[in-house]
Amino acid sequence: MSQASFVVVANRLPVDRDDNGGWRRSPGGLVTALEPVMKGVDGAWVGWPGKADLTLEPFDFDGTRLIPVTLSADDVQNYYEGFSNDTIWPLYHDVIAAPRYRRVWWDTYVEVNERFADAAAAAASPGATVWVQDYQLQLVPRMLREKRPDLTIGYFHHIPFPAYGLFSQLPWRKQVLEGLLGADVVGFQRVADAGNFARAVRRQFHYTTKSTGIHVPQEDGSVRNVLSKAFPISIDAQSYIELAQRPDIQARAREIREGLGNPRAVLLGVDRLDYTKGIRHRLKAFGELLEDGRLGVEDATLVQVASPSRERVEAYVQLRDEIELTVARTNGDFDTMSHTAIRYLHQAFPREEMVALYLAADVMLVTALRDGMNLVAKEYVASRIDNKGVLVLSEFAGAADELGSAVRINPHDIDGLKDAIMRAVEMPRAEQGRRMRALRRRVLDHDVRDWSRLFLDALSNATKKV
Ligand code: G6P
Repeated sequence: MSQASFVVVANRLPVDRDDNGGWRRSPGGLVTALEPVMKGVDGAWVGWPGKADLTLEPFDFDGTRLIPVTLSADDVQNYYEGFSNDTIWPLYHDVIAAPRYRRVWWDTYVEVNERFADAAAAAASPGATVWVQDYQLQLVPRMLREKRPDLTIGYFHHIPFPAYGLFSQLPWRKQVLEGLLGADVVGFQRVADAGNFARAVRRQFHYTTKSTGIHVPQEDGSVRNVLSKAFPISIDAQSYIELAQRPDIQARAREIREGLGNPRAVLLGVDRLDYTKGIRHRLKAFGELLEDGRLGVEDATLVQVASPSRERVEAYVQLRDEIELTVARTNGDFDTMSHTAIRYLHQAFPREEMVALYLAADVMLVTALRDGMNLVAKEYVASRIDNKGVLVLSEFAGAADELGSAVRINPHDIDGLKDAIMRAVEMPRAEQGRRMRALRRRVLDHDVRDWSRLFLDALSNATKKV
C-alpha cells in the first residue's frame, strides 16, 4: 500500500453510506475544512465507519485514501459511548452531567487509541504530517511519536478543555496529558482552553510554560517544545452565502413562516440533542414569557430542531424525555388552532433546509451551557445576507470570544435570558443591521480554510525551529 504525506486521524471517516450502499461525503464542518488541504496532497484519512463490527478494506474516495478502523460492539460501548461520551464529554463540559469513571472504559479507550495510532503509523510516509482530531483520540499523539519519531504531529481539540479543579478528577489525567504532549502543536478553540491545558501540565508535571510554549524534557536531557494555542474553528461561509442567495431557498423560508401561521417573530434553536446546549433553559425562558403574557403565540413561535445524538447514552435518553415533556406541556397550555408555541423537530435536515430556516428566523437562540465553539451561531450569521435577524449568544460558547456584536446571555440567568429574548424580538431594524454587519464581517473574514491554514502553518513552523 502506498503511503501518504498528510494523514488525518479522526473518530469518524469523512463519509456516510448513501441509499444505494455507496459512499457520500458527510456534511460535517471538519470534512469541508480539510477538503482543499486534502486535494493538494497525497492524503489519507483514518477513521471509524460509524457502525459496530464493520470491517472494510481501505478505499479511495474523491482523491483521498480512506482507512477504516474496525470497532466491535464492545468497543463502541466502552470507547465511544462510555469513555468518550460518558466520561470525557461531561467532564470537559464542566460536569453539566456527572462523568462516570469506569476502568473497563479506560482500558478500551487505550486499546482503541492504539489501533488508530497503528493505522496512522502504517499510512504515513517518512517525515509525513499527521493531524489528530478531538477528544476521542487524546492518546494518539504520544503513541504515534513512539512508533514514528520522524512524523510531524498536530492535534486539535474541538471541545472545551476544563479548569484544573475539574480536570484533576480524571483518574487517568496524567496519561491523557502525556498523550496530548506527544504532538508538536496542540490546538484549542479558545485562549482560555489553551490556558487550562498549560496549567494542567504545570500542576501535573511542573514543566515550564512560556506564553504558548510548553517545554517537555526528554530522556536524553534535551527539551522538546510543544506549541499550545487557540485556533478558533469556523465554517465554509461562502457555501452558506450561495445557498442563501438561491431563490428556491428564499421561497422555502417564506413557506416555513406561512406554515407557522406567520407569527410576528420566529425564534429558532438548532442543536444536537445534547445537555451541553441549554435547550431546557431556552424552553423554560420561552415558556415563562408566554405565561407572563409578555409574548403570545401569535407574536412568537419557537422552532426547535434537536437532531438525534448518542441515543444509547443514559444522560441523552433522560434529556430527551425531559425536553419532550416540557414541549408537550408548553404546547398543551398555549397552542391555539392556528398557532403553536414550540415546533419541535427531533430530526436532522440537509443544509438547504437549514439555510431556509435561518432565513426564516428573526431570532437565533444559542444558549449553550458550555460549548467548544458552536458553529450554528456562525452558520446563522453567514446565511443572513439581508443583514437582518438577531443572534442571542451564550457567553459560555467559544463563539462568544469572536462574536462580540451578538446579544450576550448567561443561560443560567433565566430572567436575564427572558429580557434578552424580548430585546431581540423588539430590536429595531437599524440596530439589527449594525450588529449583523459586524458579525458577518468576522465570520466572512475568518472562514474554515483560514482555520486549517493557520493551524498547518503553525505546525510546519513549530517543527522547522527544532
Ligand atoms: C462534537 C465533537 C465531534 C463529534 C460531534 C458529533 O462536535 O467535537 O468530535 O463528531 O460532536 O458527535 P458524534 O458522537 O455523533 O460523533
